[in-house]
Amino acid sequence: MTSADPAADYLAINRANWDDRAPIHAAAPDYDVQRFLDDPDFLSGVVRFDRPRLGDVAGLEGVHLQCHIGTDTLSLSRLGATMTGLDLSGASLAEARRIAAAVGADIDYVESDVYAAAAALGGRTFDLVYVSLGARCWLPSVDRWAEVVASVLRPGGRLFIRDSHPVLDTLDVDESSGLLTATHAYFETAEPVVWDQASTYVAPADDEDRHIAHTTTHSWGHGLGETVSALLRHGLRLDLLEEHDSVPFCPFAGRMTGDDLGEWRLTHHPERVPLSFSLGATKVS
Ligand SMILES: C[S@@+](CC[C@H](N)C(=O)[O-])C[C@H]1O[C@@H](n2cnc3c(N)ncnc32)[C@H](O)[C@@H]1O
Repeated sequence: MTSADPAADYLAINRANWDDRAPIHAAAPDYDVQRFLDDPDFLSGVVRFDRPRLGDVAGLEGVHLQCHIGTDTLSLSRLGATMTGLDLSGASLAEARRIAAAVGADIDYVESDVYAAAAALGGRTFDLVYVSLGARCWLPSVDRWAEVVASVLRPGGRLFIRDSHPVLDTLDVDESSGLLTATHAYFETAEPVVWDQASTYVAPADDEDRHIAHTTTHSWGHGLGETVSALLRHGLRLDLLEEHDSVPFCPFAGRMTGDDLGEWRLTHHPERVPLSFSLGATKVS
């Protein structure tokens, strides 16, 4: 991690990094793209995890913000929603379109910064806004994000989000003690955290595929209270908020145990730290 250059264009920096990651993720076993192609009923682990909370999405018009390579988007489409996916990364959307075409799914993919979503979606509004893991951290202001969510929802429409817990985003392994320590900001800060990492959060299909040329990213913490408050400020009503002791990737190798859904928990004392959350909210005004 290095200190931030306030003049840096975080969108261009993050887009270049996600464009590099997209083909690696599309080939990585953890994203299970081949299972989507082979089995017309296959759903992502993230969507399967939340099915008890998600409610019936059949017949809904939904938009998946920051949809990446579209595996969660396709899963919602398979549950009967008419889906649009939106993402900043053209390479991610190229993979998402390729996967949708291969399985004959009718999904509209739109390239845009989240903050420009209302215009990019042509002023359309939706019954469902869906957001899945690793989303808000790429945006400087959670209030602006909540404003966008509200602007693309119809009255009575709902937001469903599963994201990494902001407590998890504060943690790192302290090399000298071997303990997990709160190293990064929990609350939103004006300055981003600037990372320089040549790896991603899933194991690549093979070492040849590992190459990330654009290793710098800019990200921001957003506290859970900040996120909920922003949604309330923009006219959403909170319906559901569950914190989980698991997350569908392994942030601390050697310290976590995976399960059949691809969820990872701390091997020792998983009850001590929330790793992700699910939140449902309805637009009331
Ligand atoms: C961690 S991935 C989301 C992963 C997704 N939940 C999945 O499991 O496939 C984050 C995505 O956010 C996108 N992204 C980052 N900043 C963005 C922005 N400002 N507007 C739109 N998309 C953005 C990236 O291009 C990337 O595809």
